[in-house]
Amino acid sequence: MQILFIGDIFGRPGRTIVKERLPGLVKEHALDLVIANGENVAAGFGITPALAEDLFDIGIDVLTSGNHIWDKREIISYFEEADGNPYSTARRLLRPANYPPRMPGWGIYQGSKGQIPYAVLNLQGRVFMPSNDDPFRVVDQLLNETSAKVILVDMHAEATSEKISMGWYLDGRVTALVGTHTHVPTADERVLPGGTAYVTDVGMTGPHDGVIGVKKELILDRFLTNMPIRFEAATGDVRLNGIVVDCDETTGRARGIKRITLR
Ligand SMILES: [Fe+2]
Ligand SMILES: [Fe+2]
Repeated sequence: MQILFIGDIFGRPGRTIVKERLPGLVKEHALDLVIANGENVAAGFGITPALAEDLFDIGIDVLTSGNHIWDKREIISYFEEADGNPYSTARRLLRPANYPPRMPGWGIYQGSKGQIPYAVLNLQGRVFMPSNDDPFRVVDQLLNETSAKVILVDMHAEATSEKISMGWYLDGRVTALVGTHTHVPTADERVLPGGTAYVTDVGMTGPHDGVIGVKKELILDRFLTNMPIRFEAATGDVRLNGIVVDCDETTGRARGIKRITLR
């Protein structure tokens, strides 16, 4: 089974490059499953129901997210509308599973491709991030809930140490653990000894001529003056950052992981 994970899709530039390049990627890598982080889809801040549906329509199977998930308030009712209805499209949008109980949404999706069951899990780190429940304990609970062999985990976190630790913690228990949130791809992709594909950060799909997606002049001004500023999405040097995981669908073990950058 070939799985593509696309790093944080940022604003219209990110959505456009995904639309343009996904069909070619599906063909080239014989992809079976496509997952993307969608926390920055709406001009860099959150995601709306319509934008989520657009991405599902062009062939993304599951969207994960992170700390920006509540930036667009409409997403709350999107989650609520799918509550109790496992067949709703909205069920395919995730927020980190280790958020406090009673928050709308969920952090696990279980589906199947052909006859192959799979699960996608979404976690958020706690180092240099808002406080949440322990992602290590929460992932143990989630893994008890699924019998799928093919399991992909998006660990949305700031600290490299926390993501690497989660990689070792899950080695041999999931197909792939990929990091997101920093928007900067790391060159440490590998298959860990237990058969889990790992990368600390997939990177960002969007404008790379700014500062992690935002216009560089605005961010520079903020560093120089410490004044609050209104963020605006950058527009140039648009790249698609992703990784392709090759796995044995009967055991769920990864055979390889490849980093992808398209311009
Ligand atoms: Fe992001
Ligand atoms: Fe984030």
